[in-house]
This record gives sequence, structure tokens and C-alpha cells, in this order.
Amino acid sequence: MKINTLINGERKNFENYFVKLLKSTLSREILSKAMFYGSMNGGKRIRPFIVSIFAKLANVKKQHYLRLSAAIECIHSYSLIHDDLPSMDDDDFRRGKLSTHKKFNEATAILAGDALHDLAFEIIANKKTHQDAKIRIQLIEKLSKILGFQGLAGGQSCDLLFEKTKIKKKDILKMYKLKTSALFSFCCSSAFIVGGKNNKEIKFAEEFGSIFGLMFQIIDDILDETKDFKFLGKTPGKDKKQGKSTLISVIGEEKAIKFCLHEIKQFEYKNKKYFNQYKILTEVLSMNLKKYK
Ligand code: IPE
Ligand code: IPE
Ligand code: MG
Ligand code: MG
Ligand code: MG
Repeated sequence: MKINTLINGERKNFENYFVKLLKSTLSREILSKAMFYGSMNGGKRIRPFIVSIFAKLANVKKQHYLRLSAAIECIHSYSLIHDDLPSMDDDDFRRGKLSTHKKFNEATAILAGDALHDLAFEIIANKKTHQDAKIRIQLIEKLSKILGFQGLAGGQSCDLLFEKTKIKKKDILKMYKLKTSALFSFCCSSAFIVGGKNNKEIKFAEEFGSIFGLMFQIIDDILDETKDFKFLGKTPGKDKKQGKSTLISVIGEEKAIKFCLHEIKQFEYKNKKYFNQYKILTEVLSMNLKKYK
């Protein structure tokens, strides 16, 4: 099956599940409305797609992996609601609509982000995610680590500190691994954990997610510079305007693409065994770089 068909199919599966879950969980209060708005507003659902790929490789049933995806999209939505706040990237638009703090207000957006973050843990901790409490604790421990000071929050903090400052390539990459790769790592490893894979395979899944996330962020930076509002659904040219330190601002687009292709090649070479075993991963790893290959 073509990868785009797979992505679209998984997006539909996920949307159906997620909307039901949110509607049966949330209330009619303003905070719930903001949580719904910030998470059901037309994301590409790439993370649920990645979860589904690894889940299928580990024979995880749909009713289980959709819970992982739901928790992950709650986290992702939280991170975007906060990322758009005036004290962070200060963007009035997200996914072609007003960002959550513009649609509601700043305090509500902060709290909606917080509450989505918490809802993710509630979803994972529930027995429906996995019958074995040990597995659920392992997932919770991993998720808390990849979100905290050594993960997403730490990366976002670096991203802000690095504004209008000369930063080395290696530090930019470190920042990307925290702010973006960490959650992608969890997409891959959580599915393998639920599927009972061994530690070596889980480690490979984590590394795959990390490199996928790195490529994803680099492409996001390129799109920020080259595409319009209609395509992006967020304010174009924002990184430059804000003096963000990105890989593009340090080495330029051409070298950044070369870097991506080289990283992919090396990773595939190092993990030949897994790429032979899990054929689909070759295509998935390069899916954001197709036009450059
Ligand atoms: C945007 O993520 C934030 C980054 C990590 C670059 P996505 O591009 O996946 O955002 P949505 O969910 O599709 O809006
Ligand atoms: C966001 O990176 C990464 C997160 C963890 C939220 P960006 O700031 O580049 O994301 P966009 O471009 O606003 O979606
Ligand atoms: Mg940002
Ligand atoms: Mg941003
Ligand atoms: Mg961006």
C-alpha cells in the first residue's frame, strides 16, 4: 500500500477514536472547550501514524495503540498551545485557525495545555491501555522523562534561550532532539513496549523516533521559510522574524538537506538488521524528504 494511503487511513481511524474519547471525557465548561479546540483543530496526525506503524510491527491491537496515540496527541496539542503563547513563539494562528489563546484567552490556553498534558497520563494509566500494571508504569515513567527538563520542556527552554544568539550546529541538534525527537521516540518505543518487544528492539525504536523527529523539525524549519500561510496554517517566516536559531539559520537549506540524507543513510546502515526485518521503515524514515532524494 502507498504510504500516503496508509497515512490518510490512519488519520481517519484516529480522528474517529479521539473525538469519541474527548467527547465522553470532557465537560461543557470553558476549559474543556479550549482543550477540545486545541486538540481537534486539524493536525496532520503524523505521530498517530508513526505509532500505528510500530504497533503493527509488534502485533499490537488497534484498541490498544489508539490509546497510545490519543495520549500522544494530547501531549502534542498541549505543546503547541503553549508554543503559540505570547511569552513563547507568540503566534496568533495554528492549523489555519486562531491559536487557542486568541480564540479563548491566555489563562485558559495555559490551563488547557496543562489539562491536556494531564489527560495523557490518565489515558495511559487506565487498564484499557494494557492489562499489566508494570507495563503501564514503564510507559508513564518513559513519558514523564521525555516531557520534562531532559525532554520536550527542556528543548523548548533552549529554543527560547537560543533566540538572537550565535549557536553551534551541535547545540541546535541537541535542542531538536529534546523539543521534537523525544515525543517521536515515545511514539515508536511505547508501541514496542506494549507489544512485548525486547529491550534491544525498544532501543532501536527509540533511536528511529529520534532521527525521524530530527528530520521532521528540520523540514518544519525549511517550510517556515519557504511556504505561505495557506500551506502552513501558521504565520510564515516566523523563525527569521523572531531570530530563532535553526539548523537553516546556521548552515543553510542545502547543507541541512545533505545532512538529513547523510544521517538517514548512516542510521540505516547501522541498523541494517532491523531495516531488513521491518521493510516499511525505510520508506517511513524518508517520508518527509521524498522530494530531495
Ligand atoms: C508542529 O508539529 C511542531 C513541530 C514539532 C515541528 P506538526 O507539524 O506535527 O503539527 P500538526 O499536528 O500537524 O499541526
Ligand atoms: C515546536 O517547534 C516544537 C514543539 C515541541 C512544540 P516550532 O516552534 O518550530 O513549531 P511550530 O513551527 O510553531 O509548529
Ligand atoms: Mg517553538
Ligand atoms: Mg512555534
Ligand atoms: Mg516551526
